[in-house]
Amino acid sequence: MDSQRSVTRHRVTMYSFLLLLILVTLSVIAIFDHTQNITSFLRPLWDTPPPPFKYIPHYYAENTTINNLCNLHGWSLTSEPRNVYDAILFNNELDLLELRWRELYPYVTKFIILESNMTFTGFPKPLTFDLNRERFAFAEDKIVYGYLPLELSPNTHVDPFLIESHHRSMMNELIRRSGISDGDLLIISDTDEIPSSHTVKLLQQCDGLPTVLHLEMRNYVYSFEFPVDYNSWRATAHIYSRWTRYRHSRQTDLILSDAGWHCSFCFRRLSEFVTKMTAYSHADRVKKREYLDYSKIQRKICRGDDLYDMLPEEYSFKNLIGKMGSVPRSASAVHLPAYLIENAEQFKFLLPGGCERLPE
Ligand SMILES: *[C@@H]1O[C@H](CO)[C@@H](O)[C@H](O)[C@H]1NC(C)=O
Ligand SMILES: *[C@@H]1O[C@H](CO)[C@@H](O)[C@H](O)[C@H]1NC(C)=O
Repeated sequence: MDSQRSVTRHRVTMYSFLLLLILVTLSVIAIFDHTQNITSFLRPLWDTPPPPFKYIPHYYAENTTINNLCNLHGWSLTSEPRNVYDAILFNNELDLLELRWRELYPYVTKFIILESNMTFTGFPKPLTFDLNRERFAFAEDKIVYGYLPLELSPNTHVDPFLIESHHRSMMNELIRRSGISDGDLLIISDTDEIPSSHTVKLLQQCDGLPTVLHLEMRNYVYSFEFPVDYNSWRATAHIYSRWTRYRHSRQTDLILSDAGWHCSFCFRRLSEFVTKMTAYSHADRVKKREYLDYSKIQRKICRGDDLYDMLPEEYSFKNLIGKMGSVPRSASAVHLPAYLIENAEQFKFLLPGGCERLPE
């Protein structure tokens, strides 16, 4: 009798334990929805951060002489300003391209721009720059345009690595053909990584710079109303030599602080968000059709929420938890590209209060 009761009690404990286990599992699944988020949440445990950068302090104030600024950085004034070449691969960021070129026009010798009729992920794409070239008539005398035709291969699986390597070699050829010489300044970045004009002026007019340095940029998402952090580092400035190659990866530990703006998904139209989400980057993140629904995208833009409901990519729990949830709005439109402020009405979707987008 006694042993019977003990067995029953044992069973009851086991059942409640099982029940608890199932409940815990279910709630974990409910909280995290997909494995991607679990992986991201546990990133601080499985991933180690890249080696830290060595930050070069960046000095600037309006109306300070360039001589003074060069000296503050431990550099000296050049006898003759360098020629500056700005090289980008273009997808569909027309508005940011205009802000970029207006910002840099006075300092840049040639704007090198390459576009292909295929995205990195292997989808056919229109030649958006070529189709809108009149908009860039103001810079026509400086444009070095390259078109990379790529063939769709319906039977074989597309290799993004191969597509990217075609882009890189074509870009290297364009750079060589642009008239660049040893000692010139070559800026390599994405269209949406915009160096500020005073940064380029500094690099153009000072001697004693390192031969390669990254440019730290403020990260924004959707518009300048949503500043995320300062961690954008991919843009680089090179003192050109014939060994310089187009790359968009880590090149050196040196990084110049606060050198511009990186605005991701800063599109005027909801259709452009969908194009970017499906054809350009991380199409694998579109796990649910509803991610492409205009009204859902619009709501996320105005709240500063992630388009794919993903967690931030961070290497420590402190940063990860600090960045979870919506990006807080900023009401500041100070220290932004000059052309944006001068044409605030035309670009109001990039400014505080401008989160409503056109559908098409
Ligand atoms: C800028 O510098 C000039 C010449 O040094 C000076 O006359 C002018 O007042 C300065 N402007 C501002 C806004 O400080
Ligand atoms: C790109 O254009 C070339 C001709 O210029 C064509 O042969 C090729 O099929 C096009 N590729 C795509 C993906 O549309």
